[in-house]
Amino acid sequence: MNDTTLVLSTFAEDVRAGLLQTPKTLPSKYFYDEQGDKLFQTIMGLGEYYLTRCEFEIFSEQKEAILKSFLGDDEAFRLVELGAGDGTKTKILMSHFLEAGADFTYNPIDISQNVLEQLEADLGNTVPDLKVEPIQGDYFDALEELNRNHSLKEVVLFLGSNIGNFSNEGAEQFLSKLGNSLSEGDLLLIGFDLMKNPQTILNAYNDKLGVTKEFNLNLLTRMNNELGANFDIEKFRHFPTYDPITGETRSHLISTVDQEVYIEVLDTTFRFDAWEAIHTEVSQKYSPKMIENFAQKAGFRIVENFTDECNYYVDSLWEKI
Ligand code: AVI
Repeated sequence: MNDTTLVLSTFAEDVRAGLLQTPKTLPSKYFYDEQGDKLFQTIMGLGEYYLTRCEFEIFSEQKEAILKSFLGDDEAFRLVELGAGDGTKTKILMSHFLEAGADFTYNPIDISQNVLEQLEADLGNTVPDLKVEPIQGDYFDALEELNRNHSLKEVVLFLGSNIGNFSNEGAEQFLSKLGNSLSEGDLLLIGFDLMKNPQTILNAYNDKLGVTKEFNLNLLTRMNNELGANFDIEKFRHFPTYDPITGETRSHLISTVDQEVYIEVLDTTFRFDAWEAIHTEVSQKYSPKMIENFAQKAGFRIVENFTDECNYYVDSLWEKI
């Protein structure tokens, strides 16, 4: 293979496209290499990062009501989780469902086979009576596979305010696609981080220990390691913003000086002006009205909203109509 036929990875292609844009941008999905996964685990345990704690509280305190709303008139269901991760929060629900004698199978869907194997092994030890059938792959391909092979009611979980990492337009498209791959009566339990005191939100993305800063800067380290880039990490700053009108929280990496960065795999030098920003992530916060609009546009009706005591976060239960 010579230089002209060299196939670049999607990562390299996305980096090139993002750094050639004005303003510069990088997709947040690339945060999650091995180090990024570890940092995100730490973030979820931070005092300032209320999102995980709120969802944990909702599941712990309202698991009976959640099961009741899942069961309806049907007996058996498939509990399908999109992007299962380590399943810590879901375990609270599933342990309760088993104790209550519910008839269900857990189908975690994840792009990473490694994540699924770890989850299955862990659940085998901690919740041994649980029926687990992991599906590796793209969410929509996996849902199609499930529909082809089974007719049971599906209860889909999309937790952690992962929807917030889409633009509003992207979220609308994702939810419509999800609606189209479900049948009438199927359910979706989806976590949304709500608009609240702007300072509380900013603190969640700018923790005192600097873990979120490290998480954001790790994107540069990843480009250094995997694409042969020569980013000087010391010359970039982590800078989150929150717009209380739109609910958009954005993370940026700011170049503190005029500088050039060479990326070997792309054989390209990129210029950064002093105080120029790279937009790295959106973490959208929502009003109840926005959530209603999303549900309606995607062909769902809201059955029930489960919120934490502070009203910071909602797990909204939707039914496909
Ligand atoms: C995964 N996602 C919902 C997190 C969020 O809050 O947007 C990722 C994150 N970014 C910075 N801190 C946490």
